[in-house]
Amino acid sequence: MTGFVSFVGSGPGDPELLTLKAVDRLRRADVVLFDDLSSGPLLDHIRAGATLVPVGKRAGRPSPSQAHVSQLLVDHAATGAHVVRLKSGDPAIFGRLEEEIVALRTAGIAFEIVPGVTSASAAAAAAAIPLTRRLSARRVQFVTGHDVTGGLPGALNMAALADAQATTVVFMPKRTFAALFAQLCAHGLSPDTPALLAENVGHPDQRLHRSTIAGLARMLATELGSAPALILYGPLRGEDEA
Ligand SMILES: C[S@@+](CC[C@H](N)C(=O)[O-])C[C@H]1O[C@@H](n2cnc3c(N)ncnc32)[C@H](O)[C@@H]1O
Repeated sequence: MTGFVSFVGSGPGDPELLTLKAVDRLRRADVVLFDDLSSGPLLDHIRAGATLVPVGKRAGRPSPSQAHVSQLLVDHAATGAHVVRLKSGDPAIFGRLEEEIVALRTAGIAFEIVPGVTSASAAAAAAAIPLTRRLSARRVQFVTGHDVTGGLPGALNMAALADAQATTVVFMPKRTFAALFAQLCAHGLSPDTPALLAENVGHPDQRLHRSTIAGLARMLATELGSAPALILYGPLRGEDEA
């Protein structure tokens, strides 16, 4: 008896940004493995009697290892259950999806991927920023601000990240932004490049702070806070917003 796994994107946290397909899979699930950023009211769609398994890597709990989470998925599906693996935003963006897919393929367990609204799109929408602009932002790029050690990844394509004609979204940016800022400037990007720090997007305590890359690097040197955040930078202002 083999079960089935639905990887489901929960969106940034606003229950209205769950897709209809996500709600359907949550309603039908026997077991739901969820991250910290995919909790709260989003879980109200799960039927009574389903098993809820928190596997979040934050909130002061000891973090379950990725191998352990992958094994949990396999073990629950092996009982014949319909398992939902609920991941924040879109599951295919900085969500360790690959490791979990490999574990399922190795165990011969079928799965599907239900995309979600990435926090990058939700942040841009909340701040009324088009991620692309016809003349000034022909490219958009998503990059992670840290590697497994917590430091700025070593092999970043700095020429691309310093492209003044691209909109860049940095995930998990806070701790390493000062280091990234120094490298961006060294590669020719103006310190006055418009930037946005978007915290708790889609939650009641959402905070949007507009500045420049220099301003955010200065601010984050003294106050980090624990809220999940993104930094957007690039041609964020339209021609009508000097
Ligand atoms: C492991 S990554 C998952 C990203 C997710 N798959 C997505 O598409 O948004 C977690 C990071 O995403 C960003 N993030 C996720 N949800 C967020 C939210 N509601 N507000 C701000 N940033 C968020 C933060 O940078 C956070 O540290």
